[in-house]
Amino acid sequence: MNKSGKVKVGIIGSQFEADIHAQGFQLMPEEAEVVAVASPTPGNAEKLARKHGIPRVFTDYREMLKEPDIEMVTITAPNYLHCEMTVDIANAGKHVVCEKPLCMTLAEADEMIDTCKRKGVLLAYAEELFFTPKYVKAKEMADQGAFGKIYLIKQSEKHFGPHSAWFWDMEKAGGGTLMDLGCHGIAFCYWFLGRPRVTSVYAQVGTYVHAEKTRGDDDAICILEFENGSVALVEDSWGRRGGMADRTEVYGEGGVTYADLHMGNALPTYSEYGFGYAVEKAPSTTGWSYPVFEEHWNYGIPQEMRHFARCVRGKEKLEATGEDGRVVMEVLYAAYASAGMGQKVKMPYQPQAKKPVEEWLNRRGK
Ligand SMILES: NC(=O)c1ccc[n+]([C@@H]2O[C@H](COP(=O)([O-])OP(=O)(O)OC[C@H]3O[C@@H](n4cnc5c(N)ncnc54)[C@H](O)[C@@H]3O)[C@@H](O)[C@H]2O)c1
Repeated sequence: MNKSGKVKVGIIGSQFEADIHAQGFQLMPEEAEVVAVASPTPGNAEKLARKHGIPRVFTDYREMLKEPDIEMVTITAPNYLHCEMTVDIANAGKHVVCEKPLCMTLAEADEMIDTCKRKGVLLAYAEELFFTPKYVKAKEMADQGAFGKIYLIKQSEKHFGPHSAWFWDMEKAGGGTLMDLGCHGIAFCYWFLGRPRVTSVYAQVGTYVHAEKTRGDDDAICILEFENGSVALVEDSWGRRGGMADRTEVYGEGGVTYADLHMGNALPTYSEYGFGYAVEKAPSTTGWSYPVFEEHWNYGIPQEMRHFARCVRGKEKLEATGEDGRVVMEVLYAAYASAGMGQKVKMPYQPQAKKPVEEWLNRRGK
């Protein structure tokens, strides 16, 4: 296997996040290059390959894993496939970049972490908020003491719901908006505060807007307490009209900072006629809109992919790990259990259900 030069990458999946990964590698091309893409629907891998100049295409990702020069594989498939794919990639001796959430169950998380350790490959958890330039700046200031002791951190991501049917199917997703979007906020607050142990979790979730489409939650509020005395408020929604919103607030005894991922990287715009594209999941571009520039850069995707490639070459230490993804899973189980019981849950929580969302669904109405 080639151990110098650009890291050769294969992507599993060809739709929304696969396109973002491909663009991310292209925006910072000095450390890695995408050489293959695998996706089961005939024609889809070819389409992504044509768009990004990716030379090799596969319909079966297991065939892609036989390519000896590929060193790192990114998973952009539905959540219920993350574990199986990670194990296959690791067994093929390749490094894994797994999209969020890490997987469907804690048992899967353990299998993924153990297999990658045993095979001596990296398990990188693709949590881009650890690389989002605006949020990284907030953390730099916090680490320099700008806000003194942080007593509250808020993180929120909201839009009107995901683009693909599998997200709404709790068997394939494992949870609704709390799992899909809250996994970002939980990981972010934990990382921002320096990974203190989570001591308790409280959550309120419901299906307020999309009950005809899903049994899952479409709005969620989750409060975490940490052993260092800090509190996190994670707020997420699939019911918010108007496109993507993502923001963070940090409150310390010595200061405060507000970071809105889109505002400040967007142009307040009015158009009678509309135009091509404003921002992720925005339904239209007529009337008032907030078109962003350098969208993927501002999310931190190229920086994240570059970091993972540098980790493969031993140039950097992995910042976002399978273990981080597992901590998020532990919190998700406790959060859904809290929502089901209507009370705060002390950590560690021993899961009672197979998938996180079932902690809530199984108790609902009882
Ligand atoms: N980091 C982020 O902000 C972010 C954003 C969107 C999605 N995601 C995550 O990325 C993952 C994919 O989401 P998406 O939005 O791209 O979904 P999507 O529905 O747009 O695409 C899913 C892809 O997986 C492929 N796939 C399905 N079964 C497969 C199989 N057996 N083998 C290989 N490929 C298979 C599909 O063909 C498709 O190409 C999810 O885990 C999601 O949570 C992360």
